[in-house]
Amino acid sequence: MSDYREKARERVKKYCKVCPVCNGKACAGQIPGMGGIGSGMAFQNNLTALAACRILPRYLHEADNPAPEAELWGQKLSLPVLAAPVGDVSAMGSDMPTARYTELLIKGCREAGTIATFGDRQRMDLLSENFAQIGGNGAMTIPFFKPWAPDDMGPRLDMAAAHGCAACGMDVDAAGFSALRKASPGFGIRSGRDIAELVKMTHARGMKFIIKGIMSPVDAHIAVDSGVDSLIVSNHGGRSIDCTPGTAEVLPAIAEAVGGSVLIMADGGVRTGLDVLRMLALGAKLVLICRPVTIAVHGDEEHGLRCYFEDLRQQLVAAMRLTGCADLASISRAALC
Ligand SMILES: Cc1cc2nc3c(=O)[nH]c(=O)nc-3n(C[C@H](O)[C@H](O)[C@H](O)COP(=O)(O)O)c2cc1C
Repeated sequence: MSDYREKARERVKKYCKVCPVCNGKACAGQIPGMGGIGSGMAFQNNLTALAACRILPRYLHEADNPAPEAELWGQKLSLPVLAAPVGDVSAMGSDMPTARYTELLIKGCREAGTIATFGDRQRMDLLSENFAQIGGNGAMTIPFFKPWAPDDMGPRLDMAAAHGCAACGMDVDAAGFSALRKASPGFGIRSGRDIAELVKMTHARGMKFIIKGIMSPVDAHIAVDSGVDSLIVSNHGGRSIDCTPGTAEVLPAIAEAVGGSVLIMADGGVRTGLDVLRMLALGAKLVLICRPVTIAVHGDEEHGLRCYFEDLRQQLVAAMRLTGCADLASISRAALC
């Protein structure tokens, strides 16, 4: 893995230093780039909040061979981790065309036994280049669309359905992105009524709807009442608004507020198998990882990604073993102190 980090450093050097721990300090404020917005604190708070969750070891039990396998709507996953969506990879200083990045990401995730996601493009011809990379098994790839008005979403949802996707997402926390606000009058903050309409449109095409960017119980309630199938607790990697708490700080209250009524996922600062265990203990069923996944793809293409996920899986198994968790359902707040 140290070889691939060297190679990745060369390929993303315009913006990313491929730091030993990807924590948002060296790249604070760098957008375009890999950083968090403004002071960079929202990105850094993601790591700080996770680190504050201390692990309570358990050694006297029968879970010597824990099972890290997960499931999402009938798809079996080798670990409870998905690759998080990114839009245009040139904005992170990549030397790869976005469609090539998407192709490698999808291949690597499939080989690792997990689900790939990709972000939106403003131009439909560029978005369709991403969809073209899906190949045979659309159910293992989830596209995430920007918060366009429901009237503008039909063609995007049609494209997802035509490629066999089982679910689509929307990153509602991109509502403030000024270039997109300028480009389309319908782009921006979505109401509960808009979300209900989008859910209906997505379900009518046979797909589930995931809302990404929930940071408060009040938004979580609105999302659930609008009929979403899943919500992602996320602050967009600290790139939407400055100075938010870390996602691990807000996750427990959101999980408590919506109970088991929808599937809860979370992202932000997850770097290790221990972090995956922490997010699950705080109430997520699945987690997403973005920046380290992009580094793995730039380091050694689909092979780099497969190695990264395998490493993460082994770390998670070790963490489960030493906290007495036989399977993912056994991971609870009891693993933390
Ligand atoms: C360069 C970059 C581009 C991103 N593009 C998107 C995007 O197009 N859509 C989206 O939903 N999230 C996007 N995100 C946010 C990630 O999906 C994810 O929520 C966040 O980065 C997770 O934090 P982590 O990078 O610390 O793992 C982007 C993040 C980065 C760093």
